[in-house]
Amino acid sequence: MSGLASVRKVALAYSGGLDTSVMVPWLRERYGCEVVAVVANVGQLEDFEAIRQKALASGASSCYVVDVRETFARDYIFPALRAGAVYEGRYLLGTALARPLIAKVQVEVALRCGCDALAHGCTGKGNDQVRFELAYQALAPHLKVIAPWREWELRSREDEIAYARRHGIPVSATPEKPYSIDQNLWHTSYEGGVLEDPGAMAPPDMFQLTVDPADAPDVPHYVQIGFEGGFPVSLDGVRMSPASLIESLNAIAGAHGVGRVDVVENRLVGMKSRGVYETPAGTVLLAALKDLEALTLDRDTLHFKELIAPRYAELVYYGQWYSPLRAALDGFLEVSHRWVTGTVTVKLFKGSCVPVARSSPYSLYRHDLATFGEDAAYNQKDAEGFIHLFGLPTRVFTGVHPEVRDLKVEEQVGG
Ligand code: ARG
Repeated sequence: MSGLASVRKVALAYSGGLDTSVMVPWLRERYGCEVVAVVANVGQLEDFEAIRQKALASGASSCYVVDVRETFARDYIFPALRAGAVYEGRYLLGTALARPLIAKVQVEVALRCGCDALAHGCTGKGNDQVRFELAYQALAPHLKVIAPWREWELRSREDEIAYARRHGIPVSATPEKPYSIDQNLWHTSYEGGVLEDPGAMAPPDMFQLTVDPADAPDVPHYVQIGFEGGFPVSLDGVRMSPASLIESLNAIAGAHGVGRVDVVENRLVGMKSRGVYETPAGTVLLAALKDLEALTLDRDTLHFKELIAPRYAELVYYGQWYSPLRAALDGFLEVSHRWVTGTVTVKLFKGSCVPVARSSPYSLYRHDLATFGEDAAYNQKDAEGFIHLFGLPTRVFTGVHPEVRDLKVEEQVGG
């Protein structure tokens, strides 16, 4: 035991799965410490009372279950949605958004219970260890961090099961799924196991939140999303809390097969990994918000927002939620999206989700300006001078470099 820092009491981010269950006796044995289990309810469909019982049966001195679904939706998911945060253009960041909040819940319990250490169940190869530990550093840098996966001698699931049996931990009889699942209000994600071959299709029976688009109803369904200041506030005219709006929309969009993506992504720790995600509500909300932005944001602000969106996504993916840059970008979005208010009707049909109508009291769309008919507001003669000056640099450049004019039009052969 020499070389190990002394730990009296550790708060463990507990899920109820085999890994974090085995960690309870492992931490007690290795560090001779007390273990407080912390479960954050971020919308995963679990029996939390059963999880609590399992934590205690595994040897935790206490177990705290904290329902943070509304906080998750309001303070984590919706700001990221408003930012248009989508990692590498396709991943809506469900796992990455939950980690900083789970860590925060864990730190709060740790401080309340007088813990001197924090532990998590992430492996040493993934993004999640970084996300948890960056949050710990931001929120409680004085607490010691223990990452059993990077430290223990257990190498396989078989090792873990044997360890669990030796310590009298209940091992569930249901056979393990051939991939890893992470679930919350925003998404269900799958990776590892049979998904590790990016050339092989995901098993069709894997999906939990969405039907196969081929099996979706043959008639389209229209949903109306209401936004205020860039945040969703209503569904089909009914005002809802952030979490219940997402829950309701997940059911509606999932039934139409909306929100599946299957990607190879770049992990922060360097390797590429294959992941499959189901984000039904998120996919609809993102499409609807983009549509409303097009109606209510001026061109420069819209284009600038699109410039920062991938950077915001990187911050979230990299675990930098509690960073000054994220706060600063949210400051920008608070101002840019003040009037992104209105409603968007989205057509859901066999896996697709397409905005088809939109309106806003702050619409910048002016029919008198856009119309091809007669109007008083726009003088077509003004366009002449504008185009002449807009083309000035082009005329100067091609005057100096006449060869770029290249006026030969290639004959199309065949066709
Ligand atoms: N690759 C995703 C991320 O880093 C999801 C990770 C968790 N998913 C899982 N099935 N274990 O955010």
